[in-house]
Amino acid sequence: MGINNTRSSTNRKPSESMRLIVTTFVGIVFGFFIGISFPSLTAKLNLPTGLLPTIDVSYIEDKYTGGSEHSVVKNNNNKSAQNQLGDKIWVPSNPRGAERLPPAIIEAESDYYLRRLWGKPSEDLTSKPKYLVTFTVGYDQKKNIDAAVKKFSENFTILLFHYDGRTTEWDEFEWSKRAIHVSARKQTKWWYAKRFLHPDIVAPYDYIFIWDEDLGVEHFNAEEYLKLVKKHGLEISQPGLEPNSGLTWQMTKRRGDREVHKETEEKPGWCSDPHLPPCAAFVEIMAPVFSRDAWRCVWHMIQNDLVHGWGLDFALRKCVEPAHEKIGVVDSQWIIHQSVPSLGKQGEAQDGKAPWQGVRERCKKEWTMFQSRLANAENSYFKAVGAADMLNSTSA
Ligand SMILES: *[C@@H]1O[C@H](CO)[C@@H](O)[C@H](O)[C@H]1NC(C)=O
Ligand SMILES: *[C@@H]1O[C@H](CO)[C@@H](O)[C@H](O)[C@H]1NC(C)=O
Ligand SMILES: *[C@@H]1O[C@H](CO)[C@@H](O)[C@H](O)[C@H]1NC(C)=O
Repeated sequence: MGINNTRSSTNRKPSESMRLIVTTFVGIVFGFFIGISFPSLTAKLNLPTGLLPTIDVSYIEDKYTGGSEHSVVKNNNNKSAQNQLGDKIWVPSNPRGAERLPPAIIEAESDYYLRRLWGKPSEDLTSKPKYLVTFTVGYDQKKNIDAAVKKFSENFTILLFHYDGRTTEWDEFEWSKRAIHVSARKQTKWWYAKRFLHPDIVAPYDYIFIWDEDLGVEHFNAEEYLKLVKKHGLEISQPGLEPNSGLTWQMTKRRGDREVHKETEEKPGWCSDPHLPPCAAFVEIMAPVFSRDAWRCVWHMIQNDLVHGWGLDFALRKCVEPAHEKIGVVDSQWIIHQSVPSLGKQGEAQDGKAPWQGVRERCKKEWTMFQSRLANAENSYFKAVGAADMLNSTSA
């Protein structure tokens, strides 16, 4: 019985924990049906006959207002317009899988802008924020997140990833109603980032903040921060960290005497090259800020199974060139890392070890795995290129 129980509960787990609340998408679909059920719309739907089957909107109205059950779409089979055009559509330069569509209908990118369910679509958006900030949160950290979110103006889209399944409670904060909430239990920041921050989804945003929940922001202003990022040409950055006991790297320590720094000195022997991590081309993963282009690259480097992101900080430099000039720390807008081991508590006690120990071990293991995957990938690339070069030179 014990075995059966364990099995069925592990089988059930994914579906429960994957209860994703992506309000936007539901809203769009729902809005489509609501919109289409208004009779006034019927007159405005001037679908070209011939190219598309003629859709009788009144049938759809019936269907979604609980009316008849009969066929929704009537095709009048008028093929003459299509035949006049000759061949079917095939556009190889379209996005993969969409070659059959006429290019003008393709929307390859999306956004996180909330729309309304009525009125003209062209008048839905009163503003289009150019920046995106995400926090991976548990409700226990609500005070801290409330303070942090208030540091980001209306020029930011706010996206919260909830790892504890508590989403509606956040509505006590006014800003929560314009935020996007994504919920999946016990997942990490990089798990969410890989799944919900695809470069094509976040394409309208100039900069993307992917932040932890335990950052103190009293001395931080997001707009001022971005001014400095632009001024100093930083594609990947983070705010300086207030020197406190838990500081790991010299690079991310705040300097009191400048706006930005891009390199540092570490303990003797730690840096083989002054332009390489951890002495330069390096920020940590707790509070990174990416430009659109840098994120497009970094997203591709994130591994689906390596959820803690350890080692990613050392590899960010692969995505920008020259890395020691485009990666840096903003000193004059700085934060305090409060080191609340929040997700660590979400682990599971195993073999007599505390949950946080299991999480810590997994973090380290992932770091090793990531390093060897990256090294192997580079090796096989250079091998393949070298072999091709050799073939070319022998055949020439
Ligand atoms: C079929 O399409 C042609 C060309 O677009 C048009 O002239 C004709 O009226 C259409 N016939 C019907 C039944 O819709
Ligand atoms: C938001 O962006 C606009 C346009 O760039 C700018 O004028 C405004 O000052 C920004 N808002 C804040 C609070 O900085
Ligand atoms: C091999 O040579 C051909 C013709 O010069 C060239 O088009 C091709 O890119 C070369 N391949 C590599 C891998 O260098």
